Amino acid sequence: MATVLAARPIVKVSAPDLVRDLDLTNDEVHCLLDLAGKVKHAPAKYARSLAGKYISLIFEKPSLRTRLTFELAIKQLGGDAVACDGALGAREPIKDIARNLERWVQAIVARTFAQGAIEELAQWSSAPVINALSDVFHPCQALADVFTLREHFGELRGLKLAFVGDGNNVAHSLMLTATRLGMDFAIATPRKYAPNAGIVSQAEGLAAISGTRLEITHNPEQVVDGAHAVYTDVWTSMGQEKQAADRRKQFAPYQVTGDLMAQARPNAVFMHCLPAKRGEEVTDQVIESSRSIVFDQAENRLHAQKALLLMMMMG
Ligand code: CP
Ligand code: NVA
Repeated sequence: MATVLAARPIVKVSAPDLVRDLDLTNDEVHCLLDLAGKVKHAPAKYARSLAGKYISLIFEKPSLRTRLTFELAIKQLGGDAVACDGALGAREPIKDIARNLERWVQAIVARTFAQGAIEELAQWSSAPVINALSDVFHPCQALADVFTLREHFGELRGLKLAFVGDGNNVAHSLMLTATRLGMDFAIATPRKYAPNAGIVSQAEGLAAISGTRLEITHNPEQVVDGAHAVYTDVWTSMGQEKQAADRRKQFAPYQVTGDLMAQARPNAVFMHCLPAKRGEEVTDQVIESSRSIVFDQAENRLHAQKALLLMMMMG
């Protein structure tokens, strides 16, 4: 007699919020990547999963990908989103905003300047809070990126991810996520724009546990050597516009060019969280080349965030 296997229930995450990458356990990240694959290939199966649930989107900074993919994810899972923009805490204390929202919605997705703002929201809200980018982390980006790499290369363990550019939010989240999943991670930044020392030491701990290599240097050629993927981000992030001229000078040797890509593995891919400034951190030729998987990354934001919402709000 044929055995009918019941579909595995969705694993509920153990932490109430995702404000930092490490709020998810390694096992939860693996479950999330598996679930993102299922949701991507059979979206109709999840079309009513969040029926009757409302999620508030709060954006202090502009967004195309994160905002639209969250809104689409929520709607395609049968829920609905309500938006509220502006500087958190300008009109009333963050703790009051949190205690209003928790009475109306079942989750909060927030993009803030200060990491402290999103942590304060989480501290005061009983509804789960998801970090949609802060000055320090971009966990949803990193989840979609490792999902994209796994899709492209089949598995993550043994891959080398090279990051060339600013040691900022995207680099921090990638560093933590890659090392915990068994990837080598190498980053080259100008001295002045190195990653946060506390996050580097967390990533060192994760790399030691996973048996992988973490390399922090100022030399782009060194990091792309042997890399399966070369990643960059804008030189001037949102909120840093006044430093743009200095940054253009400091980062000039860190542009991802065809020559730099030629020093990575022959099958290496180019990655970028977007938006990109062609002619600054990457040449038009590289981002438009067949090695570029930037739009796969953008697409996968939707599927990874659907999996995240399911794991935070169901199970
Ligand atoms: N990559 C990313 O977060 O893009 P947005 O700023 O457009 O959301
Ligand atoms: N580092 C960039 C990422 C944008 C998705 C910024 O914070 O502006």
